Amino acid sequence: MTIVSQRPTAALLQVEAVSKWFGTTQALNAAALTLQAGEIHVLLGENGAGKSTLAKIIAGVYRADTGTIRLDGNPVNLPTVKAARQLGIAMVFQELSLAPHLTVLDNLFLGQEGNRFPLAWLHRAQERQRCEALFASLELNLPLDVPVRSLTIAQKQLLEIAKALVQQPRLVMMDEPTSTLTEREKRFLFQTLQTLKQQGVAILYVTHHLREVLEVGTRVSAMLDGSVRTTVAVTPALTESVLLEMLTGRQLSMVVARSSPTTTQPLLTVDGLETKSCKDIHLQLAPGEIVGIYGIVGCGRESVGRAIAGLTQPLRGTMTLAGQSYAPQHPGAALAQGVGFLPADRKEAGILPERSIRENLNLSNLGAFAKRGILSPSQERLHTTQQLEQLQVRYTSIEDPITRLSGGNQQKILFGRAIARASRLLVMEEPTAGIDMGTRLELYRQMKDLADRGASFLLLSSDLVETLLLCNRVYLMYDGAIVDILINPTLHDEERVLSAVLGKG
Ligand SMILES: Nc1ncnc2c1ncn2[C@@H]1O[C@H](COP(=O)(O)OP(=O)(O)O)[C@@H](O)[C@H]1O
Ligand SMILES: [Mg+2]
Repeated sequence: MTIVSQRPTAALLQVEAVSKWFGTTQALNAAALTLQAGEIHVLLGENGAGKSTLAKIIAGVYRADTGTIRLDGNPVNLPTVKAARQLGIAMVFQELSLAPHLTVLDNLFLGQEGNRFPLAWLHRAQERQRCEALFASLELNLPLDVPVRSLTIAQKQLLEIAKALVQQPRLVMMDEPTSTLTEREKRFLFQTLQTLKQQGVAILYVTHHLREVLEVGTRVSAMLDGSVRTTVAVTPALTESVLLEMLTGRQLSMVVARSSPTTTQPLLTVDGLETKSCKDIHLQLAPGEIVGIYGIVGCGRESVGRAIAGLTQPLRGTMTLAGQSYAPQHPGAALAQGVGFLPADRKEAGILPERSIRENLNLSNLGAFAKRGILSPSQERLHTTQQLEQLQVRYTSIEDPITRLSGGNQQKILFGRAIARASRLLVMEEPTAGIDMGTRLELYRQMKDLADRGASFLLLSSDLVETLLLCNRVYLMYDGAIVDILINPTLHDEERVLSAVLGKG
């Protein structure tokens, strides 16, 4: 009798070279991942990196175009959510999937096939028991017989989690589960994660919060452009900056080496500025400084940027630019004094859809190519090519209409144009929205280079990480007023920022 030596235990789940297209968008590009029993595997990645798509393929919501998924080493088919569930794979959905008019108890067993008839009442009693036992084991306090619509959003999210767990899955996927949870419910969730982990359940946990990785993770993987780029174990040595480096796939040092302005003489001062949506704004900006204004939608920060760039007229207040009184009546007047504006909306930014890439890039910048009054086409072409190279624009010919480029590539051109036109200060709204990470870093680097040479930037971005990493100072706004100022901020200031901009400061 021969003894067959046991192969090393396979991972609970293996994702191998899975690709997925939505029309012309490639959401996943040969993504690979393993999940071990009893681990909390955190999945990080920018918006659009493919995290939700990967989780949904494992959950049977979408089918992979190519690639293999193995469970206990064996290839499996996951054509539907039900099929995945029968194999012990459950998912807590980002979008709530509950039926509002049904009770908590009904929702918990919704979609589960059971041969209820003719012993419906018996099943019912069993369901109630299972539900009570589950809630008790999770120390979850939810009424069973009220309609779901009467629950708070956070309670619904907890029920969504319980719904995934009621069938005792071997693998649970959670897609940004904490986004709507309060601090207390978050504690509950983390406690639940630990319980599941001890029971040997594998958890795939998608989040944006770097701190949560360190708090709950066993391993962490970073996705970029549809692929899983790196996977590392969570150890005490793992820091948020290492995670950020994983996320961006580049040296973070390049990003965080902040320019430090040498002069303290302000380039711009704003005193007592008031517009329809802000009041009593005081701020200063030195040459070579990158200053951010951060706040939630409706905090009034756009109107500050727009008043500085000459797009709106303040109701009250004064400004100075390089020591001179400054009150631009329109954007052209601001630009004449070296203050440019890059709006979030590309149409507003004055993109000329019918015109070529070259023309769009060099618009209003033609003076730079005029040699004794004569424009040199070859010089312009050379400069254009160099600039496109630097901006890493993917294009075929500089004479193609700009609309042939992707949105991100169009944005790069607008960025390049705005940088070329504003000699002193560039006010930027959401400059990196819709731009991939590699290009972002390229834009950051350019901002820094220019700042080192004395140019200033006012950054109005919804991206907190970029705001904290790039800016020398950040003004925090809430309800039309400046409520806090951060000097040389770091990622650790996230909490302080959030409490200020949510009005809890
Ligand atoms: N149902 C869908 N239809 C079309 N495109 C989609 C769909 N779901 C996702 N995508 C696209 O696939 C890419 C990855 O999306 P997603 O997996 O949601 O990323 P993440 O969860 O990391 O933010 C994005 O470009 C997104 O726009
Ligand atoms: Mg997602």
